[in-house]
Amino acid sequence: MRVIVTKNYEDLGRVAANIIASQVTLKPESVLGLATGSSPISTYKELIKKYENGDLSFAKCHAANLDEYVGLTKDNDQSYAYFMYNNLFKFVDIDMANTNIPDGTEKDAAKECARYDAVIKSLGGVDLQLLGIGHNGHVGFNEPADCFAKGTNIINLTQSTIDANTRFFEKKEDVPTQAYTMGIKTIMSAKKILLVASGKDKAEIIYKMVAGDITPQVPASVLQLHNDVIVVVDEAAGSLLAEKAPEYIEK
Ligand code: F6R
Repeated sequence: MRVIVTKNYEDLGRVAANIIASQVTLKPESVLGLATGSSPISTYKELIKKYENGDLSFAKCHAANLDEYVGLTKDNDQSYAYFMYNNLFKFVDIDMANTNIPDGTEKDAAKECARYDAVIKSLGGVDLQLLGIGHNGHVGFNEPADCFAKGTNIINLTQSTIDANTRFFEKKEDVPTQAYTMGIKTIMSAKKILLVASGKDKAEIIYKMVAGDITPQVPASVLQLHNDVIVVVDEAAGSLLAEKAPEYIEK
């Protein structure tokens, strides 16, 4: 696991976007696993700049997103489909037909999980998976649990995740309580993984993920077992690691 610490969130976006751009340049038909949330926004902004400058094209890429809230339609402004369209896809040349995300409106969970696993399999797996990390160590929406989930699954969001998401919804009762998410095995099957995190509130979980025990109680800790993971954090998110286990940070 390589850990790169950047000065701030904007620099983090530049470093992460350079890694994604290298992947797409070397393999234009890459399958990109993508994440939503606040962490990847500066990365997406940098990717858009690279596209606008004529340095990068997503025309041959496929995208497979990590997760989607159950019950939200694609045009709901809190859905992850909406987020992806408005934070990346509409600004670049990716073919929308090549973008994939679990269907939050599908009520038959077994059917939707099997469909999404089949989609990823048909793409030949993910070349580069971009991840954020929750305060409790979740990746995708794989929450702390007694065992690691394998393929796409439906999960009940923990109260801390529901609380963290409340800020995005007008009414408390509109906050989704379930989500479809790629499983840990699918994430771990990606050829390369890039995790981004920023802010002091992520410092403790970054320390646990990188230097702590590997346990499904901290789902992201399993990334220690993958042999091509790059973690890009800003100084605030990397602060506890820098204090307690600086040997993990790339000089
Ligand atoms: C989103 C996702 C989540 C987020 C995590 C961190 O697709 O998979 O695991 O990455 O909740 O969210 P932010 O970046 O908003 O702190």
